[in-house]
Amino acid sequence: MNNKSIGVFDSGLGGLTAVKSISALLPKENIVYFGDTGRLPYGTKTEDTIKQYSASDIRFLLSHDVKMVVIACGTASSVALSDMRKMFDVPIVGVVEAACEAAVKATVNGKVGVLGTTATVKSSSYLRGISDIDNGIQVFQRACPLFVPLVENGHFNTEVTKLVVYEYLEEIKGQGVDTLILGCTHYPLLEKAISEYMGDGVTIINVCKELAKSIGTILGEDNLADREYGVCEYYVSDNAEGFAELGGVFLERKIDGQVKKIDIEKY
Ligand code: DGL
Repeated sequence: MNNKSIGVFDSGLGGLTAVKSISALLPKENIVYFGDTGRLPYGTKTEDTIKQYSASDIRFLLSHDVKMVVIACGTASSVALSDMRKMFDVPIVGVVEAACEAAVKATVNGKVGVLGTTATVKSSSYLRGISDIDNGIQVFQRACPLFVPLVENGHFNTEVTKLVVYEYLEEIKGQGVDTLILGCTHYPLLEKAISEYMGDGVTIINVCKELAKSIGTILGEDNLADREYGVCEYYVSDNAEGFAELGGVFLERKIDGQVKKIDIEKY
């Protein structure tokens, strides 16, 4: 039994999709969440900067003595995961692997679409992850840089979001994919608009649902918490009020007054 918290980080609000999935599947776990709202977006930054940000995010989580780190960010998982595993002596899990496995299982026609940030698509992490499992599968990637600001501004299913969804997904829909990976943790917040546009025949893979399933397995029985229910602490690097407001809508519970601003440059 290990009652330490699970540390989770993302560039902003998107990683709350992981918090939601982890709390649903492992409700006894405490979670320390860090959203790097002051330095968001990560998806347009260079590899070096994403690695440097990821390392400071992990150092902050380790200052809370977490038992594992979840990189709830498609971009940081794609670009920084292997370097972070070398740098830190704590189990670190990203979102790419589990999503690739789920997509390979789900596809029937062997055509998988991947939506991600510019950095994620450039890294080809999902493409490699899928072809490592089955190199007969065709993968179509699409960078969707406007999705993150839409989410961070609360445009989950508005007319402007529907327009941007059409703009980004028209080509991938035409390519006939039957499975679509939402390869950025912000994108499940747009799932309704995305799945409505793609239609019933397309299976949507939400990276965080897949991730949560693997966390229990990675922790193993000995490292699962033993208490009535877990609590979640939220930290951000800017705009705690804005994060609490939108985060609360998404988590479907009030988190006002529970979000603290920290100075990430110190870590
Ligand atoms: N939510 C993140 C991801 O999964 C980051 C988006 C961004 O900061 O650009 O890629």
